[in-house]
This record gives sequence, structure tokens and C-alpha cells, in this order.
Amino acid sequence: MSEEYEARPKHHKPQGISDRIAYGTVRFLRFFADLFFSGRYGNRAVVLETVAAVPGMVGGAIQHLHSLRRMKNDDGWIHTLLEEAENERMHLLTFIEVAKPNWLERTLVIIAQGIFYNAFFVLYLFSSKTAHRVVGYLEEEAVYSYTEYLAGVDSGKYENVPAPQIAIDYWQLPEDARLREVIIAVRADEAKHRDVNHGFADELKSGARK
Ligand SMILES: [Fe+2]
Ligand SMILES: [Fe+2]
Repeated sequence: MSEEYEARPKHHKPQGISDRIAYGTVRFLRFFADLFFSGRYGNRAVVLETVAAVPGMVGGAIQHLHSLRRMKNDDGWIHTLLEEAENERMHLLTFIEVAKPNWLERTLVIIAQGIFYNAFFVLYLFSSKTAHRVVGYLEEEAVYSYTEYLAGVDSGKYENVPAPQIAIDYWQLPEDARLREVIIAVRADEAKHRDVNHGFADELKSGARK
């Protein structure tokens, strides 16, 4: 399998109960996402990016409060997390130019935000380690999904439309870039988020960070 289609180039093997809960939750959510979108990858990207942009902002806010409260440096975590949230929002603003969500998907987004924002906030307060692990696994799934989307574009299942201007500006793509290049850029972002969040979870687990 060529590198372009290697769906799960990196997987963190769950170790311990916290990892297992995180992985189980993500796989459970993936099952419903597969069922709901059944291959409509443009719409899937729009809806899921509205969720993906939440954890960085929540984690960033909680780390910010932690830094203030403990009067301690954050080792760059806050900036990294806020940057992740902005990056995910740019994914959303890009894919909204490619696929238009229907009213059911728009309703789902509103309900999902209400549930996910609060659930993730509470999870992060109880166990920031598990929260970062959940994000690490969500990002593994995102890499997998964008690889499937890419394969669909290459097989002609999805039209390789011109890249939206917002994507050309953000990733500094050539003016004649197409959807294919956008998906590759987005997938690289997701792989970075995966590594950063698994890394944060590892750091919290090792006790190097209190
Ligand atoms: Fe994303
Ligand atoms: Fe991501």
C-alpha cells in the first residue's frame, strides 16, 4: 500500500483503563458516523469538523485557568491547543465551500455541540490525560477518514473540484490547486494533532506534568 493510502500509519496501542475507555468511546462514535454519513465524505467533513474544533478551545481554556491558579508556566500547551482549535475551524470553513449540509445535519451540529462541549469540559476537568487520549484517537480516525476521502477522489467517486480560495490562502496552495491537494493538507494537520494529543496524554501519564 502506498503511503498516500496507508489509512492508519500510526496507532497508539491502548495501555490501561483510561486508554481503553478513550479508544472504545472513539470507535463507538465512529460506528455511528459511518452509519449516518455512509460515504458522503464532504458532508461528513463539515459536520465532524464542527466537533473537532471544540477540544483545543476547551483544553486551552482549562490549561489557561490552571496556569493562572497555580501561577505556573504552561510550557506552550495553551498556544498549541488554541492553534489546534483555529486550525480545525479552518478545516470547517474550507469544507463548507465543498459540501452543503442539509437541515438534518445542521440540527445535528447544534445538538452535538451542546452535548460534546459540556461532556468534553467535564472529562477534561476529571482527567486531562483521558481527554487528550480521546482527541488522539479521534485524530487517528480523522486521518483514516481523509484517506478514504482521498481514495474516493482518485477513483472518481467524488469530483476533484477546484480548491476553495480560503484553502489556497490558508495552506498557500498553488492557484490551480484542487480538492485532492486540500485533503492531503488537511490530513497532514490531523496527523499532527494526533501526535500532539497522544504526546500530551503520555506526558500527563508519566507524571512529568502535574
Ligand atoms: Fe480537522
Ligand atoms: Fe484534527
